[in-house]
Amino acid sequence: MSAISTSTDIREDILRLKQMRNAVILAHNYQIPEIQDIADYVGDSLGLAFRAQETDADVIVFCGVHFMAETAKIVNPEKTVVLPDAEAGCSLEESCAAADLKAFLEENQEKNYYVITYINSSAAVKALSDVICTSGNAVKIVEAAPKDRPILFAPDQNLGAWVSQETGREMDFWDGNCYLHVEFTRESIQRIKDDYPDAAVVAHPECTTAVRLLADEVCSTEKMVDFCRSSESQNIIVVTEAGMLHRIQKEIPEKNLIAGPTANCACAECRFMKMNTLEKLYNCLSELSPAVELEEEFREAAKAPIMRMLELSK
Ligand code: 13P
Ligand code: SF4
Repeated sequence: MSAISTSTDIREDILRLKQMRNAVILAHNYQIPEIQDIADYVGDSLGLAFRAQETDADVIVFCGVHFMAETAKIVNPEKTVVLPDAEAGCSLEESCAAADLKAFLEENQEKNYYVITYINSSAAVKALSDVICTSGNAVKIVEAAPKDRPILFAPDQNLGAWVSQETGREMDFWDGNCYLHVEFTRESIQRIKDDYPDAAVVAHPECTTAVRLLADEVCSTEKMVDFCRSSESQNIIVVTEAGMLHRIQKEIPEKNLIAGPTANCACAECRFMKMNTLEKLYNCLSELSPAVELEEEFREAAKAPIMRMLELSK
């Protein structure tokens, strides 16, 4: 059963409930504008993980996708962590099942892999990893990896290829990708560049190498805001999920942002990120459901590599 909002403005009801619950609303940069505007903090996966770890609220409302809310619960087991839609998953998470990773590591035991896992993964996969990374700290995490062990980078092969190029460190990649970011093509971005020859291009490292090579800057969603602020270009082509444009435009209204089109669509939206709505946000605060629950054994094992990441990122 879903709760009914009681005033004419659902935003007022959300803020009232938030206060009543002593809750904090964390939102990823890809959330719909209405959710970004009501959140206490909007950021990338790394910033959100830090905020989730530091908060003194009793309830964390995580507006993003499931693995993000799960990460908040892993580092904060005593808190209630809810999310608007428990079905909001991630194609990267889907591309790496814990059983497959476990079997691969067992088959390749003699290699003694140092496993670096992108935060876009399940708690069970994190529990099999040595350290977690995000797009915002992947270079730092790889640079800090032991030099005498081979690296297995999972599950995003594109982020892996970028970080390998940035650090000069060879590594083996898991065969996974983000279904959305691989839809940007060299041709789709080049067409926009032809229309705006003076535009700067900023792209997420989940894009393919062919697309990255067209970019002036490759970075996490949070760093995209800094890039757009400091860029001398008036026109900027933003090659990532379309929600990012709201965050940048709000902070830097004087810049002209152009959404990077995919091969088939002018506006790239992550079907998982876009499952969250204001109504679902209201309902999860009202009912404290869906809430993230984790088996303690998994939670403890997944916490260690996350804490290692947070330590290395300070
Ligand atoms: P960021 O950590 O850069 O925000 O990326 C998260 C994500 O899911 C990108 O698709
Ligand atoms: Fe996952 Fe891609 Fe959506 Fe990011 S954009 S949450 S990587 S499916």
